Amino acid sequence: MRTVFWEDNQLKMIDQRILPGRFEIVSFRDHKSVAQAIKDMVVRGAPAIGAAAAFGLALAGFESASSSTSDLLAHLQTASATLKSARPTAVNLAWAVDRVMGVAAGVGGERSAEEIRRLVLEEAQRIADEDVEINKRMAEHGAQLINDGDTVIHHCNTGALATVDWGTALGVIRMAHEQGKRVHVLVDETRPRLQGARLTAWELEQYGIPYEIITDNMAGYFLKAGKAQKCFVGSDRTAANGDVANKIGTYMLALAACDNGVPFYPVVPTSTIDLSLAHGDLIPIEERDPQEVLGLEFMGERVTPKNAKARNIAFDVTPARLVTAIVTENGVAYPPFETSLRKAVLGK
Ligand code: MRU
Repeated sequence: MRTVFWEDNQLKMIDQRILPGRFEIVSFRDHKSVAQAIKDMVVRGAPAIGAAAAFGLALAGFESASSSTSDLLAHLQTASATLKSARPTAVNLAWAVDRVMGVAAGVGGERSAEEIRRLVLEEAQRIADEDVEINKRMAEHGAQLINDGDTVIHHCNTGALATVDWGTALGVIRMAHEQGKRVHVLVDETRPRLQGARLTAWELEQYGIPYEIITDNMAGYFLKAGKAQKCFVGSDRTAANGDVANKIGTYMLALAACDNGVPFYPVVPTSTIDLSLAHGDLIPIEERDPQEVLGLEFMGERVTPKNAKARNIAFDVTPARLVTAIVTENGVAYPPFETSLRKAVLGK
């Protein structure tokens, strides 16, 4: 089953807030509730939220009953802004919405409102289908970097759940496993929302890939002790120079990997590469509700004092100098990333 899919004129998504305890599908009929679901992380992971927003725009099309093309386009424009503002860091969100809007605006004057609604839905469906195909191509390229017997450290969740299906970094690990390589995964639990402990571990169980969960602050120990041969992570936005924004904690993992000579590989579809940003300091970084940090319980008790304050930075930027290579669907890009990423995205 896909993480995000269109069925019975509705957008349906796996509710990732309650996994692995419960597996539930939630349905959406309007774009505003899709934007809210992205904010609340019912759906999360850069490519998955891109596809969800694209389908959200299709829902916006059906919300407006108007037969006037200009009324419909105006409504889609407003819905685009709402969907794009749901989360700031993952560029796939704006990329997918802009791509769908481009189709609608491109044919605007020539087609009826009904035809535009259909074209918008078709483009959203194309984005979802392409995501799966792209992930499998990335996985083929990335699996070549994994040797039989490797132990790899993985951060956050980059699997089928973070995409429409198959996954990015976890997709690489899954492909290596399916090729018959023995691969063991050290799963960073990924504080504070525990995407590793909850979602990555759940996926690895289903693929039959051996893993152990570690707390985020254990990664340095395993790297220094020579007990991990590679690190694989995803990205929410990668700048033109190869600076990689990803889930908070990725930068510290990359520092420890570099200090110990362990290769560090982000797995990044070209839809996540933002060539308009020269470097990673320009990437907008999401800060979420401190309650996600403060709400933690230990032995059934709240951990923090009643009036404690907290910060909840959701992403960090790993500088390109700590990155060994970036896996894309168009091949593995090596430094200097200014040229190799441009070639991966534009073909020149
Ligand atoms: O806050 P999340 O769970 O949406 O963050 C997800 C990540 O950081 C992933 O590593 C990233 O989206 C790339 S995975 C396809």
